[in-house]
Amino acid sequence: MSRLYFPKDFIWGSATAAYQIEGAYQEDGKGESIWDRFSHTPGKVANGDTGDVACDHYHRYKEDVELMKEIGLDSYRFSISWPRILPKGKGEINQQGLDFYRGLINELLKAGIKPVVTLYHWDLPQALQEEGGWANREIVKHFVNYAEILFNEFGDVVSQWITHNEPFVVAFNGHGSGDHAPGIKDQQVALQVAHNLLLSHGLAVKKFRELKLDNEIGITLNLISSYPISDNVEDNKAAKRMEDYINGWFLEPLFKGRYPERIVEFYGEKFNNLDIREDDMGLIKEEIDFLGINYYSRSLVRYNKDSKFLGIEGVKPQDSQYTAMDWEIYPKGLYDLLIKLNQEYTQKPLYITENGAAFDDKISEGGGVHDQDRIDYLKAHFQSAYKAIQEGVALKGYYVWSLMDNFEWAYGYSKRFGITYIDYENNQRRILKDSAYWYKNIIVNNSLEV
Ligand code: GAL
Repeated sequence: MSRLYFPKDFIWGSATAAYQIEGAYQEDGKGESIWDRFSHTPGKVANGDTGDVACDHYHRYKEDVELMKEIGLDSYRFSISWPRILPKGKGEINQQGLDFYRGLINELLKAGIKPVVTLYHWDLPQALQEEGGWANREIVKHFVNYAEILFNEFGDVVSQWITHNEPFVVAFNGHGSGDHAPGIKDQQVALQVAHNLLLSHGLAVKKFRELKLDNEIGITLNLISSYPISDNVEDNKAAKRMEDYINGWFLEPLFKGRYPERIVEFYGEKFNNLDIREDDMGLIKEEIDFLGINYYSRSLVRYNKDSKFLGIEGVKPQDSQYTAMDWEIYPKGLYDLLIKLNQEYTQKPLYITENGAAFDDKISEGGGVHDQDRIDYLKAHFQSAYKAIQEGVALKGYYVWSLMDNFEWAYGYSKRFGITYIDYENNQRRILKDSAYWYKNIIVNNSLEV
């Protein structure tokens, strides 16, 4: 046995998002969001699940901060629901919405837990969707106004801000495949949405700088490590295209002020049709303080000329282990990704803003939840992070997804990602899983036993 010690000021945290845990979907003046609309549309979410009640965090946030204290978290990453603050997305502010987040932030500060806020984790006010949502460039202005309200309100107590969570998923799942709200299936729209999201990010960062706030701002991307199935040239190219599609499309504009050329060629007409104005790329590149990374799995691919999807075909290795999402467990991918980011894109501080796994957890007869598979998953990924830090990567913190089981988007409540079990049948009772106790031990010792 040996111990891997993390850097002294390393931040251990956990993350959630508003729509996935809060519930109270129509309370205290909250407006409708696109996820309210989507989940209430038959056939969109597994089992007809909605976020109406979710984990009831809106009413139980104090109890939840107690859980965080019990686990010993240094920091908690959560998102603010735009329609709670601005029920119509713009115009009148809902004071009760601000009060809720003020209450939560105060509770966290009292507990010595650092709040990290995501401005947009997918729950756009439905009223803005009626005006075209993210596909309409006007939204950039509305997003910046919304961000400014929060910067002014909480700028002194929130030390780190994340503009967007996974703009890739908003663009391509929300507007390409359509399996997320608002359920649009149009690749051209998806590309425009990606651009408008990036622009709104850049302008929110600019606004943040203008306000001279004494804290940090960044963005969170879902990133993969992509590998070819063979060393054949076409397979290699396919793997690079996959990487450009998911990572490069966001990393290159943010850090280099351009879209990745290799894939621009593939998009052809669709790219040429985009509304990208003269100053946009410069604005998107506005300097950030840190990059947030959500890492879950890798992508293994081969070239297939018949595949409509950029000539790429995904490969599922037989001898690998998979989570309940059917995602391959591949911790080395996290190490490879961190090294690559450091070498090719930025030496800014990096945070793992999400990493974790869904498994079919059950309450045991003794009342505990024995999720050894989640412990194994996290342990292997922490080791990868450790190795990257040893090699000089400026990784400053790690947020486990998720603090609690929650509404897993199109999968509803059927997938459990939490280190806390939510007993939905029993009044949303909370039970810390074995992984939460295991995590507590790591945090206390700031080290991992291997
Ligand atoms: C991310 C997302 C989270 C969570 C997680 C697990 O894409 O930001 O909200 O659902 O995946 O699937």
